[in-house]
Amino acid sequence: MIKFDASHAFLQEDILSYQPQIHAIHQSLKEHTCKGNDFIGWLNWPFNYDKEEFARMLKTAERVRSKCEVLLVCGIGGSYLGARAAYEMIKGMYPDDGMEVIFIGNTFSSTYFKQVMHHIEGRSVILNVISKSGTTTETAMAFRMIRQWMEERYGKEECRERIIATTDKARGTLKELADKEGYETFVIPDDIGGRYSVITPVGLLPLAIAGVDIQALMDGCRKMAELLDTADLTQNPAYQYAVARRILQNQGKDAEMLVSYETQMAMVAEWWKQLFGESEGKEGKGILPCSANFSTDLHSLGQFVQEGKKVLYETLLLTEKPMLDGIFPEDAEDLDHMNYLAGKSLDWVNKMACQGTLEAHEETGHVPNLIITIPDMSAATFGAMCAFFFQACAASCLLLDINPFNQPGVEVYKKNMFRLLGKK
Ligand code: PA5
Repeated sequence: MIKFDASHAFLQEDILSYQPQIHAIHQSLKEHTCKGNDFIGWLNWPFNYDKEEFARMLKTAERVRSKCEVLLVCGIGGSYLGARAAYEMIKGMYPDDGMEVIFIGNTFSSTYFKQVMHHIEGRSVILNVISKSGTTTETAMAFRMIRQWMEERYGKEECRERIIATTDKARGTLKELADKEGYETFVIPDDIGGRYSVITPVGLLPLAIAGVDIQALMDGCRKMAELLDTADLTQNPAYQYAVARRILQNQGKDAEMLVSYETQMAMVAEWWKQLFGESEGKEGKGILPCSANFSTDLHSLGQFVQEGKKVLYETLLLTEKPMLDGIFPEDAEDLDHMNYLAGKSLDWVNKMACQGTLEAHEETGHVPNLIITIPDMSAATFGAMCAFFFQACAASCLLLDINPFNQPGVEVYKKNMFRLLGKK
């Protein structure tokens, strides 16, 4: 389902020479003996997820879809990025199936919040608030403000039908509040961290409400997880990718640019950045994850990639089949001199741009390129990408002897912010 190609990457070490380390890492993941072993729930989740809760999500989605026009998804970081990445990848930028999805609680921007409130005025709203801790400030502030607005508008009784909380199964401020107010709740499993949680209700519930086929997503994830259940480096593209990343960093490449040629994949790159950045960027180690959307960014970052300092490599995330395609039209007068493309498919042009850029960056710019190819932008493929990137990320960190599942560094700014905000 997902192919990996390192033949354009100028690797100076043989990927297969890492087989002993990968063998040990695979065993340590399977036997739950690796660093951060309390948070490996994502590995078996595609097989053992709670089927009753899954059925309840589908039922809830059906109920609210029939009565609402706008879904507000309130969360940040791991409680936000996966759902948005999947939603945009699968549905595209302007889906027209009657449910608008708006993400809030992921910023302190007052303008953004006020504009959302203005935008939803007079429309039928459903809110899914997502927070494992229940205390994340961006999310908690947006949740309070939108809850008060909804209570004024619909009354407390109807809010029980319109507010759904996804949080810890037993503990935390959000769980207590939801139970007291009588909101329906869904569970974030204890052993799955935020950035690995899109395949749990964190991502699945908003996606189901948004009209995504979450059964296909989980089936795709499970099938890919089955394929990746091998330590054999010749057979496992996720481990090949993890090893290639390490080899490239050994060659002095400290930044990885994830490149897509599809606008609707931009949030996938944001999700990927959190996954790898938060997992690997610690103890003074790690590769800086950054991203670009070509050909758009060829007109901005392309110059740096081609001729700038040789600090980075590109990882192309390529899609075999676009979601939609069309034919470029002929024009009798050809005043714009574009008739040379008449009759060609729009996606063919995109693919030629990709091929030409790869040649330019690789052959002239000497920039290493890894290539990950996905068949399409379906729900099943997104599920498969989860299994692929989770496993690659965990192995990548473990090759550096880093815990892939904690994020101690993010507490530092919070301490300062709370002091300035006067939090006790
Ligand atoms: O990956 C993570 O753990 C973080 O990005 C969290 O998901 C994020 O900080 C949100 O936390 P919470 O779900 O507790 O509100």
